[in-house]
Formats: sequence, C-alpha cells, structure tokens
Amino acid sequence: MKFFIDTANLKEIAIAQSWGILDGVTTNPSLMAKEGIKGHDNILKHYVDICNIVDGDVSAEVIALDFDGMMREAEILATLHKNIVVKVPMTKDGIKAVKALSNQGIKTNCTLVFSAGQAILAAKAGATYVSPFVGRLDDISADGIALISQMVNIFTAQDYKTQILAASLRHPMHIVQCAEIGVDVVTCPFNSIEQLFHHPLTNSGLEKFMEDFKKSQQ
Ligand code: E4P
Repeated sequence: MKFFIDTANLKEIAIAQSWGILDGVTTNPSLMAKEGIKGHDNILKHYVDICNIVDGDVSAEVIALDFDGMMREAEILATLHKNIVVKVPMTKDGIKAVKALSNQGIKTNCTLVFSAGQAILAAKAGATYVSPFVGRLDDISADGIALISQMVNIFTAQDYKTQILAASLRHPMHIVQCAEIGVDVVTCPFNSIEQLFHHPLTNSGLEKFMEDFKKSQQ
C-alpha cells in the first residue's frame, strides 16, 4: 500500500518525507487555500516546490468545471513536473477529461467519489487513481470503509487497472482498515500518519530499556 500525505504544507511534507515512508502527495483547492497560496503563478510554483520534496505522484486539482477549461489547465499542470497527476472532479465533463487525458498519457486522479458506480465510471475512463472520500461519508452517517471494501471487490473482479486511493481519512484506524482491505494507496493528513507511531507500551518499554542500560553501566 502506497502512503500519500494529504496536505499542501511544505514543512509537513518534508517531515513525512524524512521518515522514508512517503510515496506521494495529494492536494485540493481547500488545502492550497489553507496554506495561503494565492494567484496562478504562486499556485503553479507551489506544486513544483512539492514535487521537489517528494519523488512520487503529486495530485494537482483543476479549477475549471467545463471540459475545455479542464483540458487547458491539465495541460499546464502536466508540464510542470513529471510527477504531477491531474486531479479532476467526478462530473460528466470530468470523466470526459479523464478519458482524453488518459489517451494522451497524462496521469489523472478522479476525485470526489462517493459511490461504487462513480468509481466504475472513473476506472472505465482510464483514471490512474480514483479517490473515494471515506471521512466525508462517515460524516453523514454512511460507511466510508464499506465503500472501500466494495470498490476493492469490484476492481479485483473486473481487473481494473485504476488504483484505489482512499482519501478523506481522518484517523490512524482508517489507515489500518484500508491496509486490511487491500487498497492501493491511502492519502492521510500529517497527524494521522504521525499517530501511527505511538503506543504507550513502546514508550514505557523504551524507558525501561534505557533505565536498565544506565544501571548496568554504573
Ligand atoms: C484528497 O484527495 C481529498 O481532497 C481529501 O482527502 C479530502 O479530505 P477531507 O474530507 O478531510 O477534506
């Protein structure tokens, strides 16, 4: 399972990269806005800055909602860096764009996916990744992890090449559940990755080892 970080914060990306477990980055317009990245040129520069930290796929989302606009943006984004994946929303124009970009050999991530039917459309259009939003389904009392499970079954049965990128993950157990189910990629907020490290028995065990080592040296 590949590990992506779901942030546009360069410091968080650099720290996760330094741990040696990072395979890529996902961003979206909200995450870019959170970092105060404004203006066309600054946005493009920020994507390049991210690509210079992580040697893996970096999702950059189009803003246009129409096919022609999406294609124009996608062509600019795709030329920024070899690792850019063009993120396109799950709409009719979005799926048309995914198909056209896939025909041109440009990597895509079909985002805002909330049902197995939408995921099938993304796979049929040739998306490189499809992003089901686990946490946002949980937020409305639906079952995000159940959707991931259903998608893994369908993609296995149909031998779809599109990679399932579980998104909108909110806590470390979402990551563990995705791993159990067998998704291709998880994209996680920095805190959820960091929380995976922690266990009270690791802390107390290490403390005891250090204490015993010091005693043995006296
Ligand atoms: C990433 O691709 C998604 O845009 C992101 O995971 C959404 O997460 P959220 O539901 O926490 O905003």
